[in-house]
Amino acid sequence: MSRIIGILNYKGGTGKTTTVVNLAAGLALNGARVLCVDLDAQGSMATHLGVDYTYSLSQLLLGQVRPQACVVQARENLDLVASDRSLLRAEGKLWRIGDEDVIRQTLRNKMRSLDGDYDYVILDFSPSVSLLSESGLLYIRELIVPVSVSYMGLVGLRQVVETLQTFRQVSESRVRLYLIVPTFYSAGVKQDREVMTILKRHFTDKVTGPIRENVRIAESPSYHQSIYEYSPNSTGAADYARLVERVLQDG
Ligand SMILES: Nc1ncnc2c1ncn2[C@@H]1O[C@H](COP(=O)(O)OP(=O)(O)OP(=O)(O)O)[C@@H](O)[C@H]1O
Ligand SMILES: [Mg+2]
Repeated sequence: MSRIIGILNYKGGTGKTTTVVNLAAGLALNGARVLCVDLDAQGSMATHLGVDYTYSLSQLLLGQVRPQACVVQARENLDLVASDRSLLRAEGKLWRIGDEDVIRQTLRNKMRSLDGDYDYVILDFSPSVSLLSESGLLYIRELIVPVSVSYMGLVGLRQVVETLQTFRQVSESRVRLYLIVPTFYSAGVKQDREVMTILKRHFTDKVTGPIRENVRIAESPSYHQSIYEYSPNSTGAADYARLVERVLQDG
């Protein structure tokens, strides 16, 4: 059975895409078969991994080509369903179906013919609340929330937790909050340490070790590389490798 994991935070720039890339790449390096799906019209996944593609999530959702045609290989063991700005138009077209429940189930239904081939399917959510992000929530089973260690980061986390509770009440979703990943952490900054303490007090063992602020992580997208390719000896590579270990162990 594949594990279907979403990386979500409605706050922008908390390290979602970075976490998808480096979690997925790390799992793939460990021999797991991984499929990433980019739910964000910014299209950062394909850019970060340096992948060319013909068909994207837009064609998959609209049923314009067979789902397999929308998958490209990004690395050994690592495939991608990419996104780009065409996703905005595709969402608009989906809206014309009218029935919101049918629209919400489109992603899950289309993914069914793909996900059986993988050990992990990992979704990169956009920072906005939309019908597409609800489709993603309906599809995933486990949620990972990257939280930037700041006051606003905690506010963002509260939004996610509240949205999740409401969503579970009004839908048939079985998604559970799996992990909270503190990001942009600097041990020398008092507020960062305090936020870690607060997170651990409230969410105990759901909180992973922090991903430290690391310039190598920030540089890696412009080289179209994961952190293990770009700077395998960096603190960023060590921190993400630890997250990969945790996810593998919980499997
Ligand atoms: N631990 C880190 N140290 C330094 N820079 C980081 C770290 N994590 C992410 N970054 C950088 O911060 C920026 C935002 O990260 P990222 O794109 O992963 O966030 P996001 O949550 O996906 O953003 P969005 O909400 O726009 O989708 C990127 O430039 C990324 O390279
Ligand atoms: Mg992103």
